[in-house]
Amino acid sequence: GTGPAGDVRSLQSAAPGADARPRPGPPLWLLAEVTYRCPLHCVFCYNPVDFAHHDAELSTEDWLRVLREARAAGAVQCGFSGGEPLLRDDLEVLIAEAHRLGFYTNLLTSGVGLTEQRAAALKAAGLDHIQLSFQDSTRELNDFLSHTRTFDLKQKVARIIKDHGWPMVMNCVIHRLNIDYIDRIIEMADSLGAEYVELANSQYYSWALLNRDHLLPSREQLERAERITNDWRATHDNRMRIFYVVPDYYENRPKKCMNGWGSIFLTITPDGTALPCHTARMLPGQAFPNVRDVSVADIWYRSDGFERYRGTAWMQEPCASCDEKEKDFGGCRCQALMLAGDANATDPVCAKSPKRGVVDEAVARAQRPGNPAVHPLVFRDPKESHRLTACEP
Ligand code: FES
Repeated sequence: GTGPAGDVRSLQSAAPGADARPRPGPPLWLLAEVTYRCPLHCVFCYNPVDFAHHDAELSTEDWLRVLREARAAGAVQCGFSGGEPLLRDDLEVLIAEAHRLGFYTNLLTSGVGLTEQRAAALKAAGLDHIQLSFQDSTRELNDFLSHTRTFDLKQKVARIIKDHGWPMVMNCVIHRLNIDYIDRIIEMADSLGAEYVELANSQYYSWALLNRDHLLPSREQLERAERITNDWRATHDNRMRIFYVVPDYYENRPKKCMNGWGSIFLTITPDGTALPCHTARMLPGQAFPNVRDVSVADIWYRSDGFERYRGTAWMQEPCASCDEKEKDFGGCRCQALMLAGDANATDPVCAKSPKRGVVDEAVARAQRPGNPAVHPLVFRDPKESHRLTACEP
């Protein structure tokens, strides 16, 4: 899966005054996180650390209704993600309905479970696009980082994707442990016939935040990787598009997370909770509606959870008087909570944040060669999820 995205233009016109609240545009991008179950155990997984507490999955009927309601509310793109979405054996049914409704459909997968038969069924269902994730260019590191033997399988799946005529879109999360092999990762993507490769540095949420001391690269590593990526582009006539993203910790302005809270993204978690981003459920004192009880239109246009951080009226200083507030909307609410302890605060990535020191300290630690981390790598796993988060009785 991918983390918070920001490359889509907002269709919402900027509010002229702090209190002006224009009706938001439609939820253009629907992300259906159909399951948190996953055969992999990636150390940078963006699923919430407490995912194992939310294992009551929506039924096929519920998902079909969600798709219809979201399409009626104006959604045009539908991503099927997880966990590993192929673990749902009704995935073909859901994708067929999304296709029939006129969605552009995208499957985000580790490849585990994408057999010839299922690929044919997904093609028949009208699936438009598959994004296949890798962990590294070598079997050793791929299998270590995911804690599974999946490297060979992914090579096979890449061929199946090509054979069925889908564009080959690969994603490899980049971090301290694989960034020095970025040249080999690019070569591998090219040799598999990728049209597009996303080399996005891990963002520090959820499991990646737990493992941050192991994963945050040094400035030198990042600069080298960027140089290699640019060289490859220049010498290969851009035959494969490479999208390279640095960790926001190395920026001095925050990202416009999710393109703005409640502006285009709607995530439905496996149990039906509707969220403006993958991890918003962690925000304290903030309730989010469930599609079992509330319609998608009411969730999007009228729920408190989606209204909470829309626009700029909620901001405190230094955001409130910042002339860039419409540009990044104060950054990420989840990151503000995780790093500044306050979801209403300026995202500490911003150099204007009084809490920027927290980010600088993590960056400073990442420059040390040995970089002793306080604990060993934690692999994403239901047992670890229960160990790390208290069970509600
Ligand atoms: Fe940025 Fe939640 S991940 S607002």
